[in-house]
Amino acid sequence: MLKITTLSENTVDAMGLLGEWGLSVLVETDTANILMDAGQSLSAGHNASVMGIDLSKVDKIVLSHGHSDHTGGLQNVLRQMRKKVEVIAHPDVWTAKYSGQREDKRKDIGMPFLLKDLESLGASFKLSREPVRITDNIMTTGEVPMVTDFEQITPNRFYVKGKSGWQSDELLDDMALIINTKSGLVVVLGCGHRGVINTLYHSQKLIGRKEVRMVIGGCHLINASAERVHMTIAALKELDVQKVGMSHCTGLPASAMMAQELGERFFYNNACTQIDITDTEIKVD
Ligand SMILES: [Fe+2]
Ligand SMILES: [Fe+2]
Repeated sequence: MLKITTLSENTVDAMGLLGEWGLSVLVETDTANILMDAGQSLSAGHNASVMGIDLSKVDKIVLSHGHSDHTGGLQNVLRQMRKKVEVIAHPDVWTAKYSGQREDKRKDIGMPFLLKDLESLGASFKLSREPVRITDNIMTTGEVPMVTDFEQITPNRFYVKGKSGWQSDELLDDMALIINTKSGLVVVLGCGHRGVINTLYHSQKLIGRKEVRMVIGGCHLINASAERVHMTIAALKELDVQKVGMSHCTGLPASAMMAQELGERFFYNNACTQIDITDTEIKVD
């Protein structure tokens, strides 16, 4: 059994749910239930309740990176879980992170909690730069090497404060979740800051197989050039990805271009989207 439900996204596809800039995706399998990100504030927990999903069944939380639109819902989600839970993330999720070109207008977009506050709600952090194996078939990517010549971290946008002042944030904490199914890989992205294609190449290498059945989540193409979007689509075609479920920071123009180019392979993955994956079929509701 592999079932993926998006709990929080910028947009919703059902009455009674909340849309919120950010992402949270629940992955359920026979061996483990994993929550990838927690959305920005209240939406993941609220939407889980409305959808009748009991978050106490979550075994592990994975954080795709430290940005608050993926981590800001942690406190609320942990309160709803009422249990001890391991949180797998890169050490840089605890680095102060900022967004904005102008120094005087930079906004704090890092993890909005202290470690002790999350620990008091049951979280225990497992920090790793390397991939972390969760079950025989599920692992995180760890740091994603940037190998394509058309993918880059959005310039002049994300910063950290280093010893010598402001520095571009290389988003080393950006990682994805890989599920190795019998018929190929399923990859869940958070923001895909280091590039969706880089992430897929890295996933193929880590698992040692080529077939990519599905990729879902944010691709951070929201400010990307049309050229980069076209090259991304060409690479998705070359990889022969069977289903592409875009969300969040992929942005509307890039998502529309993908919908046009990928036809039935494309779907918009927003809050309430439920994906049932068998060995032969991917069913999107
Ligand atoms: Fe994001
Ligand atoms: Fe992000």
